[in-house]
Amino acid sequence: MTHRLTAPAPGWTATTDVVVVGSGVAGLTAALGVRQAGLRVTVVTKAMLDDGSTRWAQGGIAAALGEGDTPEQHLDDTLVAGAGVCDEAAVRALVTEGPDAVRRLIAKGAAFDTDPAGEILLTREGGHHRRRIVHAGGDATGAEISRALVAAVRSDPGLELVEHALVLDLLTDAEGHAAGLTLHVMGEGQRDGVGAIRAKAVVLATGGMGQVFEATTNPPVSTGDGVALALRAGAEAADLEFVQFHPTVLWLGPEAEGQQPLVSEAVRGEGAYLVDAAGTRFMVGQHELNELAPRDIVTKAITRQMQLQGTDHMYLDGRHFGAEMWAERFPTILASCLAHGIDPVTDLIPIAPAAHHASGGVRTDLHGRTSVPGLYACGEVACTGVHGANRLASNSLLEGLVFAERIAADLTERHQAGELPERSVDVAAARAARTVPLPAPEARAAVQHLMSRGAGVLRSAASMAQAAAGLAALERAAAEQSSEQKPADPRVETWEAANLLLVATALVAAAEQRAETRGCHWREDYPERDDAQWRRHLITTLDADGIRISKEH
Ligand code: SIN
Repeated sequence: MTHRLTAPAPGWTATTDVVVVGSGVAGLTAALGVRQAGLRVTVVTKAMLDDGSTRWAQGGIAAALGEGDTPEQHLDDTLVAGAGVCDEAAVRALVTEGPDAVRRLIAKGAAFDTDPAGEILLTREGGHHRRRIVHAGGDATGAEISRALVAAVRSDPGLELVEHALVLDLLTDAEGHAAGLTLHVMGEGQRDGVGAIRAKAVVLATGGMGQVFEATTNPPVSTGDGVALALRAGAEAADLEFVQFHPTVLWLGPEAEGQQPLVSEAVRGEGAYLVDAAGTRFMVGQHELNELAPRDIVTKAITRQMQLQGTDHMYLDGRHFGAEMWAERFPTILASCLAHGIDPVTDLIPIAPAAHHASGGVRTDLHGRTSVPGLYACGEVACTGVHGANRLASNSLLEGLVFAERIAADLTERHQAGELPERSVDVAAARAARTVPLPAPEARAAVQHLMSRGAGVLRSAASMAQAAAGLAALERAAAEQSSEQKPADPRVETWEAANLLLVATALVAAAEQRAETRGCHWREDYPERDDAQWRRHLITTLDADGIRISKEH
């Protein structure tokens, strides 16, 4: 049983070979790779081409490029951070193909920071036992990667762009193979409103779902659209319970909501300390890497300190860097601190954890294929198995690069073998799909509130039961309004609210099932890791009765 959003019938149709949804590092790398095979590619992006979530990345890309470093050491650090549920074959692909993928990115024009001799500079972040993080513009790595890839995309006249477009649902053919998608374009001219793009394959690279929480480092467009679309299309998702909360997000007060400024882990990598209001370093003695312990451990330590001391933030102390280092090495963070009245040269930086990265997502194999034929996923929307229960810092841009290249290779091979024929859309199947009632736009804030209270950094059966009940009430209200012929208007705000409600419901269902603490899934009522029961993935699907969670064996 598949599902679809309530939406008007498409008013226009376009045709391409491969449609790529998303303009971050994963989407643009996949698009450029597929173009090399001579296939027509259409890139659909929710905002502007240069506005993908990649541009917010500060720290960098992890790859074993330094002297004495090896993919094997990068693998070890990734597996330790992932807390026992990484898929080792996926991690091996990541770390062994990573260094060359970074070199290919440089060949596409990305300029990383180098020393006076031209050698790439490497920094450290949490969980890495070596300096292994490539960065650009000090702390503007994502912006530089985005600039280089956008320039490459713009210089290819064979690559079509559809900006300001929210994807709605997958289209399939009679065999259930992806055959394109429906979307809503907020534009003017020929492609305005709801339309359809027919394609031989679809690549999802829509980014994350941080907006299910009140405070997140993710931009407002990160509403889980790709995971929601894939679930409605019958695809499997995995590891949704593993949401990474970044330990050091600039604390802007108890009421701060929406996208919050990140203070990169690289600041700690270069020697800043975590301290409480009295100046005491509380990470010392908690882990051999102190402030550079894996991210889940640091987030938990900060949260415990906040609970113990009855406060809602801690501090980062980088005053010893001095003005010159702040300006040269961390210009973005310096500017955002100054914009909020904090001078890191003289002041402690107030920080608190906020939702940052979904380690889970649409389940893929090593070629980026999902469980729906012809539907691929890469980047944060995907669950390749690389991150396990806690993503190692700066592994996500690398994952986007490596697995997008793998998708391009797979599509190229299928195309060359004549296995990528034109697809005709199965109109009857599209009509038969169960329609998801649309919640009112206000549901977005309600979802965020419920999720932050019930399924945030620290969770319990009781807190999640409250969240689940609230989410179910929102779903019932949408269904009742629909049946009373007073449905919410099909428009971007209500589609986004429907996506947020679906992914939040799936996330809570998975988190309720996982009765242990592992990686970034921290349960007050099950404080221990339980390998015998839970060293496995949880698979999420959507069927006629709603969200279904099963254990992978
Ligand atoms: C950071 O710069 O701290 C974020 C990097 C990441 O999330 O990998």
